[in-house]
Amino acid sequence: MSKLKKLNFPKDFIDKFICGNTIDVMKQIPDESVDLIVTSPPYNLKNSTGNGMKDGRGGKWSNAALINGYSHYKDNMPHEKYVAWQRECLEEMLRIIPEDGAIFYNHKWRVQAGLLQDRHDIVSGFPVRQIIIWKRKGGINFNPGYFLPTYEVIYLIAKPKFKLAKKANAYGDVWEFGQESRNKHPAPFPVELIETIISSTTAKIVLDPFMGSGTTAIAAKGLDRHFIGIDISPEYCKMAEERLIDPSSIIKKNDKMQTQQPTLFDIMEKK
Ligand SMILES: C[S@@+](CC[C@H](N)C(=O)[O-])C[C@H]1O[C@@H](n2cnc3c(N)ncnc32)[C@H](O)[C@@H]1O
Repeated sequence: MSKLKKLNFPKDFIDKFICGNTIDVMKQIPDESVDLIVTSPPYNLKNSTGNGMKDGRGGKWSNAALINGYSHYKDNMPHEKYVAWQRECLEEMLRIIPEDGAIFYNHKWRVQAGLLQDRHDIVSGFPVRQIIIWKRKGGINFNPGYFLPTYEVIYLIAKPKFKLAKKANAYGDVWEFGQESRNKHPAPFPVELIETIISSTTAKIVLDPFMGSGTTAIAAKGLDRHFIGIDISPEYCKMAEERLIDPSSIIKKNDKMQTQQPTLFDIMEKK
């Protein structure tokens, strides 16, 4: 990948998608200058004790999105390296939010080699204030050793003065939204989930450092807030830009199974 050019804040950032390595881009954002961060990082899915993701055999669900994963990222780091990378990303996110800022960091717990892998090693030491459960519609898992996982978590990592918008605490801490399976991106957020997060705050500038197909930008724009989006994939940055102009541009065409197909998030363990 070519070296990232020098960017100026706010001119080159506000309401822009920036294609580059997220840490390099975030390093160019001044301290305490974005109000809110909403993001879902790659989950390191291809580094899995299950064989479904590792060797690309999607079995019954062998569609292209599952086999290929992300366009410009393998999602297969040794676990320790992945944890260190995610912690470095969180350090950078924490630096750029103010004393009343917050990070909504979505992740998924999973079973690895028969034991729960929660993401404590990533978030430990960060100011985690709450865990929100995102209850999804089913998943796919053929493992007889444990129950079918049906939720993901959203860590609310908050600086001391962070407060919710008026009445937002009534949303509670379990949110139910079906996953978005019609999007061409392999692991998109449902727009309603991000709308719920952004509208729970008074943030003016919202950053997503792993922007993918631009869902956070779409939600921010709809709520009259500014966004900054970062992704390593030129393909996804283009997808997000087109989506902002025409939201229907990311919908898979000619895909008869589109409402049933799982996204990358769904396949975890097959053994
Ligand atoms: C889970 S997806 C985000 C999907 C997004 N929430 C949406 O609604 O479309 C994670 C994204 O991280 C991007 N990514 C992976 N490594 C990256 C890096 N080092 N810097 C920036 N983006 C990266 C991938 O290209 C992928 O689009």
